[in-house]
This record gives sequence, structure tokens and C-alpha cells, in this order.
Amino acid sequence: MKLAVLASGYGSNLQAIIDATKRGVIDGRVVLVISDQRDAYALKRAEKHQIEARYLNPKNYASREDYDSAVIVLLKERGIDLVVLAGYMRLLSPVFIDAFPGRIMNIHPSLLPSFPGLGGVGQALKYGVKVSGCTVHFVDENLDTGPIILQEAVPVYDDDTEESLHQRIHSVEHRLYPKAIQLFVQGKISIEGRKCIIHER
Ligand code: GAR
Repeated sequence: MKLAVLASGYGSNLQAIIDATKRGVIDGRVVLVISDQRDAYALKRAEKHQIEARYLNPKNYASREDYDSAVIVLLKERGIDLVVLAGYMRLLSPVFIDAFPGRIMNIHPSLLPSFPGLGGVGQALKYGVKVSGCTVHFVDENLDTGPIILQEAVPVYDDDTEESLHQRIHSVEHRLYPKAIQLFVQGKISIEGRKCIIHER
């Protein structure tokens, strides 16, 4: 199965996914990495692994739809089966969702539906929750609202900073995201309305 990863930043989740494909934890290959940020370290990670890395500058496109259409062309040309958002900080337009129905995943650093959008970790800390975590979900046309595939909780401690909590969440993400991708690759996820059913044999 061919995977594309879209990332705007550091790309530690991308790295975890690449590592999982190399170890055979995911039966698939990352064949394309796309970023909307020229300096995204994620692009360097891709290059280090001889994976095609593309930067598309949003300023070169008149609208979000135009930008997404250019991304879609690349994804279709490469025959991508699953689009994986990993710290990709752009909201996808309906054009994108329609081009890959049920085939776009995202990871978010909170237990959705709590604390969607930007700064999920900081929002949770500010609210004073005792438990937070991360969520892998399919992407629909709204922000962080698609059917949930996997979630895992992490404790929040009194002396946590945004950095310490995010670090704890990150280490869970690096395990949970490859697991969700492999479930998809194995055809073990079905979507019934808002609900993902995981078919473990
Ligand atoms: C991850 O923690 C991911 O959950 C979050 O960005 C981080 C990217 O880290 N995504 C969002 O906040 C999306 N709303 P990474 O670049 O090291 O993978």
C-alpha cells in the first residue's frame, strides 16, 4: 500500500511511520511527503530516507481549493492509497475530502472532541484536565470531527508544562499512529456513521 504523509513541521510522527514501515509494523511504503512549509524538518527526514519530498507554497495558489487541487494531482499521480496528516496545519477543503473519501487520517494531541484545533495541548493544560491524550481519526470536512479510529489517554501532572505534556503525548502518538495505519492497511476498519468498528481477528 502506498502512503503519502502531509506535514508542516518537525515530523516526529512521520519518522515513527517511516520506521514502522521499515520494521514491517506497517505493510506499506511512504512514497511521498508534502509540506506547506519550506523549512519543515519533515522534508529533510523524507530526503534522508530517499522518499520524494515536495514543498508547495500556499502563496502560489489563489485559494485553498486551488492549493488542494495541486496536492491531489500529486497524490493521484503517485497512486496514493492513504493520505496521512502528521502535524499538517492546514484545514482541508471539501475538494480534498471528496478526492479521498475515507482515506485521509489525522492525529490530534487531545482526546477529541475535547480541545480541537490549534494548540490542543495548551488548551487541555489551561482547562486543568487530569487526563489528556491523543486521537487518530478519519478526516471529514470539519475541523477534527471525523470518525475516531484509536485514542489513548495520558495523565496530566500538576507540574506539567506544555512541553512536558506534549512530550508524553508524542511518545504515545508514535506508537498509536502506526497501529491505526496498519489496521487500515489490513482492511480491519469499517466506518458505520460516526463510528469506526475495528475488526481484530
Ligand atoms: C503532533 O503532536 C500532532 O498531534 C499535532 O502536531 C504535532 C506534530 O508533531 N497535530 C495537531 O495539532 C493537528 N491539529 P510532529 O511534527 O513531531 O509529528
